[in-house]
Amino acid sequence: MNASSAKVSSAQVFGVDIGGSGIKGAPADLERGELAQERHKVLTPQPSEPKAVLEAVREVVGHFDWNGPVGLTFPGVVVDGHTLSAANVDKGWIGLDAATMFAEGLGMPVALVNDADAAGMAEVAYGAGKGRSGVVLLLTLGTGIGSALFSDGVLVPNTELGHLELHGKDAEKHASSAAKEHHDWSWSEWAGRLDDYFAVVEQLFSPQLIIIGGGVSRKADKFLPLLKPLRAEIVPAGLQNDAGIVGAAMAAAKSAGRPA
Ligand code: BGC
Repeated sequence: MNASSAKVSSAQVFGVDIGGSGIKGAPADLERGELAQERHKVLTPQPSEPKAVLEAVREVVGHFDWNGPVGLTFPGVVVDGHTLSAANVDKGWIGLDAATMFAEGLGMPVALVNDADAAGMAEVAYGAGKGRSGVVLLLTLGTGIGSALFSDGVLVPNTELGHLELHGKDAEKHASSAAKEHHDWSWSEWAGRLDDYFAVVEQLFSPQLIIIGGGVSRKADKFLPLLKPLRAEIVPAGLQNDAGIVGAAMAAAKSAGRPA
């Protein structure tokens, strides 16, 4: 069945999560805070040049009969639709007016936000951070480490805490789940590295709640119990790896002036 045969309700907005390894999207139901249809995923083209990624995004959106606002995440700094860093994607993104490129390429209104910020927005609205006041920090442990920092539900965008320095290195090289796979670390070896990272994060930001996102959040029971105690409560993301898509859709709904 083509997903397009399912009916699209007005509470739905399309979200696309662009990552270093995969690009996935689906219409999201913003009343319920979940995907409205099964997501469609393609591999991120290599090299992940802007035009090649645009084609992949067109394929994901084209899989559904979608015509309306599209929210997109990007795994780097995003300010006013411009992509300003590219740690795990092609350097051609740096300084690009990517929101305009996507809007013209898709022929639809778009909103573009950092991937971790999108996941954090979804978690705070519908998931593990719902109803939580104070300082809440979402960390995605994936190809890189992404961060989304909230104070009483208000996001400070583009915090980039994956690039804190840890033992003289970029923290994400030391503690991402990609680093775990690359070095073939056991869960307990990785947990030791996460302990070092979370200690620095806690020292600098004193969050009351840390939410762990990214694909590896599905396996939280394998590593969260191995961590040293923190002052912060630490929990897996409620929406798991769909949070980026839902958060992207929230950003698009907001910029289109639709209730999210
Ligand atoms: C990027 C962040 C991104 C994170 C997760 C980091 O390398 O700098 O912007 O959120 O990876 O994709």
